[in-house]
Amino acid sequence: MTETHLSPAHLVLPLFVQEGAGQTPIPSMPGQARLGIEPLLAVARRALSAGVGGVALFPALTDALKTPRGEESLNDDGLLQRTVRALKRELPELVVFTDVALDPYSSDGHDGVVIDGRIDNDETVPLLAKMAVAQARAGADVVAPSDMMDGRVEAIRRALDEAGFQDVGILSYCVKYASGFYGPFRDALDSAPRSGDKKTYQMNPANVRECLREIALDEAEGADLLMVKPGLPYADVLRFVREHSTLPIAAYHVSGEYCMLKVAAERGFLDYERCLLESLLCLRRAGADLIFTYGALEAAELL
Ligand code: PBG
Repeated sequence: MTETHLSPAHLVLPLFVQEGAGQTPIPSMPGQARLGIEPLLAVARRALSAGVGGVALFPALTDALKTPRGEESLNDDGLLQRTVRALKRELPELVVFTDVALDPYSSDGHDGVVIDGRIDNDETVPLLAKMAVAQARAGADVVAPSDMMDGRVEAIRRALDEAGFQDVGILSYCVKYASGFYGPFRDALDSAPRSGDKKTYQMNPANVRECLREIALDEAEGADLLMVKPGLPYADVLRFVREHSTLPIAAYHVSGEYCMLKVAAERGFLDYERCLLESLLCLRRAGADLIFTYGALEAAELL
């Protein structure tokens, strides 16, 4: 009588990469670390053999490489590009998602270019398109713009096609809210906004009707998959988006959601494994075809 199923192929494991051979634990995300390329390959190999659907990469750069326009994101020998190449060389069948947004590269800690204290949408879009092409050149299977600028899906699609990457997909963070649940992620990358907040480009948590406009734009611009983020607190939004688009829908069980489960379990108040699998099943029930979760490896091995 079971109506909904969860399997490892539904899960995508986000991974943080850093320079060097070692790894650095992330205090607010127990069990997660920023990984050098070698340890990252080992985790990715485990994820692949557990049947995980893919990995999503986020680079942690030193402040010295961060600039207002994030030029390091275009460096073919930059950390992210080297990581993608290593993954595609060692594990060619593992699907690699790369994140398109300025924040890991931005000295302002914003997803777009900051001009006179404003995040400038139209100055940012061409930079995102170039970033996506650089990621595709390194071997990314799917680029995932998480920046929430308007018009970037179309610009990215056109730039990828012109560069010969017609087969690289676009997972658009279509419905991404300005959320407090991203706190531990920003600790992991040291990428919190240096001033202001992200409310001029990310969505207002009070809104759901606005999703219809975001969906219409992303579909018309050529997105292949749509993301709803965060996960469980927005399960109603996920269901709404599922019912208003024919595209596959991904949900992001974000860093704060992972943190809540892990920390409660560390204190002995929750059964982590049980609550993780239940959370992921709930996201599937609410309509997710794919789930980004830091628990992907644990869940896949349990399943
Ligand atoms: C930013 C980005 C964020 C996350 C993924 N990409 C944070 C933000 O918008 O500040 C959050 C993921 C998480 O919390 O797990 N481009």
